[in-house]
Amino acid sequence: MGTLVLIHGFPLSARMWEPQLELAEQGWRIIAPQLRGFDGTPSPSSVATSVDDYAGDIIDLLDGLHVDHAVIGGLSMGGYITFALFRLAPRYFRAMVLADTRAQVDPPQAIEGRKKMMAAVHEQGVTAAADEMLPKLVCDSTRTNQPEVVATLRAMMLENSADVVAGAIAALMTRPDSLPLLPSIHCPTLILVGDADAITPPAMSEEMQRSIPGAELAVIADAGHMSNMEQPVAFNRTLSRFLERRV
Ligand code: MLT
Repeated sequence: MGTLVLIHGFPLSARMWEPQLELAEQGWRIIAPQLRGFDGTPSPSSVATSVDDYAGDIIDLLDGLHVDHAVIGGLSMGGYITFALFRLAPRYFRAMVLADTRAQVDPPQAIEGRKKMMAAVHEQGVTAAADEMLPKLVCDSTRTNQPEVVATLRAMMLENSADVVAGAIAALMTRPDSLPLLPSIHCPTLILVGDADAITPPAMSEEMQRSIPGAELAVIADAGHMSNMEQPVAFNRTLSRFLERRV
C-alpha cells in the first residue's frame, strides 16, 4: 500500500476521480490534485499554460505532503502531465497509470482546432469548450444508459473559468512529444483505455504499450474516453489487481 496520485483530464476537475476513491478501502492513500485554477477555486495568481506548470505544482504538493514515492497517473491531459512529471522528476514514480491518453503531440490540424476552441472560450466562455468536448467524451451506450455521467461531466466543466480553460488549451497544444520518453519508463506501468474511446483510441494505447518496457494494457469494454467514470467497476478492478501484483 502507499500513495496513489490521480491527475484529472481537460477541462474537468479532481471530482472525476470520485469513483476511484473506494480504492482507499484497500489501504491506498489517494491524492487527486485539483490542477491550478480548476473547479471554481479562486482565480489563481497565475494561470498555468504548460504541462510543466501543472507537473511543477504537483511536485510542490507531493513535497508539501512529504510524499517521496507514489503510484502516479492520469487520464488524458492527466496522462500528458504524468509524462511531464516523469520527465522532470522520475524519482517520485513507484508505478505509472496511463488512462485514455497518448504520447504523441497534436498534429497540425488538431492545433488549428485548439486555437479555434481557445478563441471560442475567450468569446463565449467555457460553454464553448463543454459543447465541443461533451459529444466526444463518452461512448454511445454511456450517453443512452448513464445520462447522469454526462450531466456530471458538463457540470464539472462549467465550474471552471474561461481563463483557466484557455490556459489548459495552451498546455495541451504545446505539450512536448513523449514518444522518446517511453522506453525510459522502467517502473511498473498500467495502460487503460475504453474500447470506444474517440479521442485517444485503443491503437494509441497499444503503441504506448509496445514502447514502455513491461507495460500492461487493459481495454475497458463499453467505455469511451472517460473509462474511469463510464465503467468504474471494471476500471477499479483492473487498477486494483495491477496494484496488488506489481506494486
Ligand atoms: C482530456 O480529456 O484531457 C482531453 O481530451 C485531452 C485532449 O484533448 O488532448
